[in-house]
Amino acid sequence: MFVCDDVPVADIARDAGTPVYVYSAGAIRDAYTSLDRALAGHPHAIHYALKAQSTLAILRLLRGLGSAADANSGGEIDVALRAGFLPSEIVFSGVGKTSEEIERAVALGVKTINVESAGELQRIEQTATRLGTRARVALRINPDIDPESHPHISTGMKTTKFGMSTREAMSLFGVIGRRPSLEAAGLHVHIGSQITSLEPLRKAAALAAGMARDLRHAGVSLDHVDVGGGLGISYDASPVPTFEAYARTILGELRHSPVQLLVEPGRALLGSAGILVTRVLDVKTQHGGKRFVVVDASMTELLRPALYQAFHRIQPVSEAGPSEPPETADVVGPVCETSDTLGVDRALPRLAVGDLLVIRDTGAYGFVMASNYNRRPLPPEVLVESRPSTELRAGPSTALRAGAWRIIRRRQTIEDQLALEE
Ligand code: LLP
Repeated sequence: MFVCDDVPVADIARDAGTPVYVYSAGAIRDAYTSLDRALAGHPHAIHYALKAQSTLAILRLLRGLGSAADANSGGEIDVALRAGFLPSEIVFSGVGKTSEEIERAVALGVKTINVESAGELQRIEQTATRLGTRARVALRINPDIDPESHPHISTGMKTTKFGMSTREAMSLFGVIGRRPSLEAAGLHVHIGSQITSLEPLRKAAALAAGMARDLRHAGVSLDHVDVGGGLGISYDASPVPTFEAYARTILGELRHSPVQLLVEPGRALLGSAGILVTRVLDVKTQHGGKRFVVVDASMTELLRPALYQAFHRIQPVSEAGPSEPPETADVVGPVCETSDTLGVDRALPRLAVGDLLVIRDTGAYGFVMASNYNRRPLPPEVLVESRPSTELRAGPSTALRAGAWRIIRRRQTIEDQLALEE
């Protein structure tokens, strides 16, 4: 039987309904503290990337552990503030920032704005001048390094829209030095996501460390070097670099640098801490002989398989009897698209309508990429808290469920959707 921190997933599915996202507070805590401990040899700050998962209860949990925040939009800044992060704990990234977003970030006095272009730097400068303040900025470098990941989530090559060349950045640091409303806070480099080879990450860190050193020699002292996020997780149980190996790699390049190290992990903290629980709606064999298991989750709850052909392990909640041979089937959702496939050619025990399945490692880029396509409601989210925590004890007692799990976001209703319409 599939359990999440001793809580039977079937109990959660029965009470909360399906599809439902379930997160383990213990797993999030373990990931955060492992990474923090691995980086302990150097002054550092972990700016959790909200884009991976930004439900308030999860953000409060991370902030309670000491995390800072990386926001990629005005909305993420608002949610970070609502979760308790201070402006000084927020870095603001994003390849296109609206004038309203720039104004808000400058007025709030966020820790740094990660700047993507010369034009954006100028707009930030004009805004800070108008507001009579000084904006702290970091220039985002596009180092032209292949992260050896999926092309859709590779961001550090010169063919992509992100950041600027090292040459341009070096000359813009000169500009920043001459503008009283700008302060050079740091350098930023984020080369992609789901990176499972450390070499590209090492190269990017080496480049940033070298630039920080050159700038220091030129009289520009940065506060920090931000090496972004990107560390991958294992979706298929094959080995991936540990936090220790990752930290050794990055710190190996920054060890002699006086600057603070910033990291912006998303997936590595949340990915393996969440599952999507779904129920079988139909089982059918097509006339060509192909078998399909139709479930109540779809590309609207979990877009990754449709968008990136991403692989997520799918397992039944109840274990199969030892004598039952597995059967191969595609696991598909109810949405009217052939791309609404969650798993291709999966060996699963014989399933019946009503059986529960777990789609694993969906804690990051799962819920946040959900949509209302086909007027499907956004699914609820549940946080399982196996150990007593101050957060739970301090919360309203009605929020606590037997077995220490609680709904941290309720299922959207059709009324919620229609509330925005004429
Ligand atoms: N910092 C910046 C500037 C980013 O753009 C990202 C992710 C992160 C940090 C966090 O990266 P992570 O540590 O999570 O790899 N939807 C895709 C992933 C998109 C990642 C976008 N940027 C997926 O489902 O695989």
